[in-house]
Amino acid sequence: MGYTIAPGVHWVGVKDWARRWFDALIPLPQGTSYNAHLVVGREAPALVDTVNPGFEEVLWTKIAAVVDPATIAYVVMNHAEPDHAGALPWVLMRAPKAKVLLTEKGYAIATRLYSIPEERVGVIHEGQTLDPGGKTLRFHEVPFVHWPETMFTYLLEDRILFPCDFFGAHTAKGVLRRGSSRHRDARQGLFRGNPHALPASGPARLGKGSRAWPGCGRPKPRPHLARSWAHPGLV
Ligand SMILES: [Fe+2]
Repeated sequence: MGYTIAPGVHWVGVKDWARRWFDALIPLPQGTSYNAHLVVGREAPALVDTVNPGFEEVLWTKIAAVVDPATIAYVVMNHAEPDHAGALPWVLMRAPKAKVLLTEKGYAIATRLYSIPEERVGVIHEGQTLDPGGKTLRFHEVPFVHWPETMFTYLLEDRILFPCDFFGAHTAKGVLRRGSSRHRDARQGLFRGNPHALPASGPARLGKGSRAWPGCGRPKPRPHLARSWAHPGLV
């Protein structure tokens, strides 16, 4: 089952309870999650991030409960790491009109990792917007949060930030605020106090009422406190 975040905005991700390691480095005692989000504009649906390879059918079933997945016009790649972008080749085969929106650095990585044809790619730049019909997506380049190509996507009308790994956590538990997760994972530790996260806190400081839905783990209700997240000494 997917989850409706706001009218026309849906969590269509996957919880991977069985995974025990990430990159053979990070133990996953509570599994992990691959959070993909569907934004349904009046003219076209857009998918923000995908899932780890092997979970494509689950993703597709959740999207199909909302819209015809073949009508997806845009796939936003906030981050090229396989747990978020690994399903891109599969998605592009089944959504034949879809273009992948990514940063310049993302283009270099995605075409190498996923063999995405040039004509299926749209390179976006800092501050650029896309409106698929009453759902304006604004893009912010945030290099090295986590890889050099990373970006945030902000949905203006609903004040929802999709920051991929930033605010992320490796857990399958409590992703949709059902149950709680006390697991402080290594990735959260990585971004707390990471100097690359401090510039990223600018676009993430969005004011009260905003919410962040990261690429893994639970949503964060107060991204306007991102500065303190990036640098624990600042509020
Ligand atoms: Fe990552």
